[in-house]
Amino acid sequence: MKTEFLKITGHAADDEAILARAAEVIKRGGLVAVPTETVYGLAGSALLAESAEKIYAAKGRPADNPLIVHIAKPEDAETIAYTNELYYALAKRFMPGPLTIILPKKDIIPSTVTAGMNTVGIRCPSNPVAHALIEVSGHPIAAPSANRSGIPSPTNAVHVLEDMDGRIDMILDGGDCEIGLESTVIKLDEDGSGCTILRPGAVTADMLSQVCAKVTISRAVIEPSLANDIKPESPGMKYKHYAPKAEVVLIDAPEDVFVNFVRRDSASIRRYGIFVSNENTGYFTGGVMLLTGPRNDAKEASRRLFSLLRRADEMELEKVYALLPPASGEYLAYYNRIVRAAGCRIIKLGNNYN
Ligand code: TXA
Ligand code: MG
Repeated sequence: MKTEFLKITGHAADDEAILARAAEVIKRGGLVAVPTETVYGLAGSALLAESAEKIYAAKGRPADNPLIVHIAKPEDAETIAYTNELYYALAKRFMPGPLTIILPKKDIIPSTVTAGMNTVGIRCPSNPVAHALIEVSGHPIAAPSANRSGIPSPTNAVHVLEDMDGRIDMILDGGDCEIGLESTVIKLDEDGSGCTILRPGAVTADMLSQVCAKVTISRAVIEPSLANDIKPESPGMKYKHYAPKAEVVLIDAPEDVFVNFVRRDSASIRRYGIFVSNENTGYFTGGVMLLTGPRNDAKEASRRLFSLLRRADEMELEKVYALLPPASGEYLAYYNRIVRAAGCRIIKLGNNYN
């Protein structure tokens, strides 16, 4: 299959023509990669089982990992799911935006889309290109991240091309993604009192608690070992995920100890990289600096994470060293992804290491 690569230009007439063509592809059961504010999505009609089958095939995705469904506005959930008051309270505050809410599904959504589950994840993206594709096609859109299964999600159109050239109909290039990590996925507690975070994202627990009386974080989000052992409620969390070919060495230690460890451990390695804030590059004398942005800037580090992991492979690095971020607040989503990129292995070093 030939994959068309089309740039969104910002000129209304040109972009309308591109979106009209992309919408035709969706309506006839084809696949279009589309920018969202989180990561690029691999979009197909959520009403056609054949589109979902093509998505699983293009990604090499395990058949038991459900797709989320994207809609233009919160009320559009009515046709595909059973909503409730809490859904609308959350939608009012966080949609459009990086939040996916799991609801009981209606029959109009083929079971292939939800991998046989009787629930469906609903998301209303704020990116104008994604929004326009949903509106113009008139279909709710099933879209997982547009990467090959297991590797870091794409945050620009070139990443998508690397993974999907020849496997899908079209790629819409809308530039870099603003957020860089996938949406927060939540399920609503049965008694209507609160919600549980199944996958952390830019909508944090603190933000959700402005609307929900009770916000719980699923144990599998924070405890790396659980990701592989128990059956997580969000199937995607159980797979080895976000991993580059390079070995990600994740260190839980004070900054000075991290520096010492890297100096010593890298002595025998030819090609390695270090995740480092803009301010801290001076501590290292060798290795490729993979800049995470200003120190303590969780948003910037999140925006760059997947792109840095892909760069490590482009540069054929053998190892990438990174410091374990806090498992809380704005860093929780970054923590969750980098722990998986490291295959859930964390090296803990105390002050006595030197
Ligand atoms: O930001 C995002 O959410 C991006 C953009 C493209 O919208 N999409 C995305 O989709 O990350 P995907 O398929 O890569 O990740 C969806 C996650 C998976 O971990 C999946 O297991 C979980 O959501 N999920 C989907 N439907 C679910 C359901 N009914 N119950 C529990 N978890 C579900
Ligand atoms: Mg994904």
